[in-house]
Formats: sequence, C-alpha cells, structure tokens
Amino acid sequence: MSAPPAQLSLRRPDDWHVHLRDGALLQAVAPVTAAQFGRAIVMPNLSPPITTVAAAQAYRQRILAALPDGSGFTPLLTAYLTDTIDPAELEGGFAEGVFTACKLYPANATTNSAAGVSDLAKLTAVFETLERIGMPLLIHGEVTDTEIDIFDREAVFIERHLQPLLLRHPGLKVVFEHITTAEAAAFVAGSGPNLAATITPHHLHINRNALFRGGLRPDFYCLPVAKREHHRLALRAAAISGDPSFFLGTDSAPHPRHAKEAACGCAGIFNAPYAIESYALAFEQEGALDRLEAFASEFGPRFYGLSPNEERITLVREAQLVPARLHRNDAAGEAVELVPFHAGELLPWRLA
Ligand code: DOR
Ligand code: ZN
Repeated sequence: MSAPPAQLSLRRPDDWHVHLRDGALLQAVAPVTAAQFGRAIVMPNLSPPITTVAAAQAYRQRILAALPDGSGFTPLLTAYLTDTIDPAELEGGFAEGVFTACKLYPANATTNSAAGVSDLAKLTAVFETLERIGMPLLIHGEVTDTEIDIFDREAVFIERHLQPLLLRHPGLKVVFEHITTAEAAAFVAGSGPNLAATITPHHLHINRNALFRGGLRPDFYCLPVAKREHHRLALRAAAISGDPSFFLGTDSAPHPRHAKEAACGCAGIFNAPYAIESYALAFEQEGALDRLEAFASEFGPRFYGLSPNEERITLVREAQLVPARLHRNDAAGEAVELVPFHAGELLPWRLA
C-alpha cells in the first residue's frame, strides 16, 4: 500500500442521516454537524415527533437559529410516519420543499419511536403516494418482535418486511438506513437503483465486542446494535465498493452523558464532531481513499436527485487527539456534556 497523501481535497460531504435534537442539545450539536457537512437529512424523532408541515417549518427555523452566522448549512427535513398520518400532508410538504423524505420507524424499535408504525399494511395509501410523487422513504429496518434475537432483527426485517414492501411498490425509492449486517449489504447490492443504504462511521469501526471491552461500554451502544466482525467487514466492502447505492449517513445520535451512563442507558453514538475524519480513517485502512469522495459527497445527492456541493473541504494528515468529553454551552449558558465517538483515540486526519 502506498503512503497516504499529506492532504485530501473533497467536495463538501453531506450527512444523509442525523439526529439534531431540540432545545439545549440542538444548540450544542447543530453547529458541530454544520462544521463538517453542507446538508443533512434531519431525523424527525423528537418528542412529539415531526408529523406536520407546520412542525417541520418551525423545527427548521430552530435549527437555523442554532447555527453560527454565515453557516452555509442546509437542513433537509423529514416527516415521521405514524399509523394515521395523512398522505396529503406528506404530498403537500414535499411539493413545498419542506419535507425531503419520510422516515419509517417500526413502533418501539428505538428512541422516540412509540408513535411509529405498528403494521406496514396500514400505510398502503402512504406508500402509493410516495411512489407516485417520488418522495424517498427512509426505513429503520429492524423487527420489534422480542422473540427475535436483537442481533438478528435487521436480517429478519429484510425477509419479513422490506422485500415484500419493495415487491408491492416497485417504484418506491427507499433508503435502508444505517445498515449493520452482511445480509443488508448483499440485499442492497443485489437490488435495483430504487434501493440505497446509509452506512455509519461507527459500524465501519466497531463490532459488538466494543460494547463489552473490559466492562459495559454505553458509548458504543446504538440501534441497530453493532454486530459480529464479519458484518463489519461486509459493511467496509460495501462502503468502498464504488456502488452508488451505498452512501454516507452518520446516524450521529447524541444523548447527554448522564443519559448514556445510566441503569437503562439510551441508544445512540455522537459521532458528528469527527465524522469525516472517522470515515477517512476507515477508507484509508481499506486502501480506498480514492473512493471516499464518491461515498461521502456524490452518491447521496445523486440518489436524492440533488446536485453535489460545489464547495470543497480539505483533510490534512495531522494526528489529533479526540477529547474524552465535550462540554457545550447552549445560548442560555446551560452546559451539555457529551462523549464523542473515538473518545481518547488519536485520529490521523484533521478537517482543515
Ligand atoms: O442508536 C440510535 N439512536 N438509533 C436510533 O435509531 C435512534 C437514535 C436516537 O434517536 O437516539
Ligand atoms: Zn438514526
């Protein structure tokens, strides 16, 4: 393998899956994502969730207000699907450019998903509308059946729900979010251009052993949970494959440190602060730095029918130590303590 370059220039990447939260946490994390990415698909799993055009417009204003002056960042909002959501609300929001996509959480699959979808059969009219108007459907692909082992829930979702859904609605544009298994990577690679997948930095770096290394490690707990090593290697192969069906989506999901380090700790990894550095490290380790730009900055916009960013970023090959904790103050001076992904590690790349 040849020596890595001293620097790397890429089109500014976008994050096709992020949790920006609300209130003090939004103030703390929105500038962090905006420092790295040009645009981001913002998840709607607030409490209460974003289910109307009006709620999305108000949330967009709160996101923009949390950014520093002159930030060129564009939040792309999503609608949270419930059993009873009105397809006309989705169609109207999409036509107005307020909603970029819909997010499907199976009810009780993850954080703030209790209002999610209990049965896909209830959403036939919604899926018909999305198919007709070309609005992407973003899926948290895990079954919620507690009889199914948590490490198998993604693979079982494919056969029980995803494959039948795609057969019923062949025109539907779907993103299988934050895939974690070899089965998901193979299914997406073997499907047509209407199915894509996002891959997180953490699922490229950790396997399930990280959760238990020397004790219980809540900072590595997220959903879908990290799987065995062979799945991590399959995700790496998919990410560097050059197949435009796989693109960047961090699933950065911050929770305050006290909520992670609790008797019942929250799922979510806060990877936004060093996200592009983390992906660069994984691609370098695979000898595929030349494929990073397409994965991070080209395939996502292509799937969403948007132009790639014109602006460029530079990654400098200069080691940086990731702090153990980040303390952010919101506008009201309220302190938020967060543990970043790669805490305490040296990363070889730094965003200039
Ligand atoms: O780990 C996760 N955290 N997975 C999700 O699906 C949701 C997210 C969150 O909102 O905290
Ligand atoms: Zn997510």
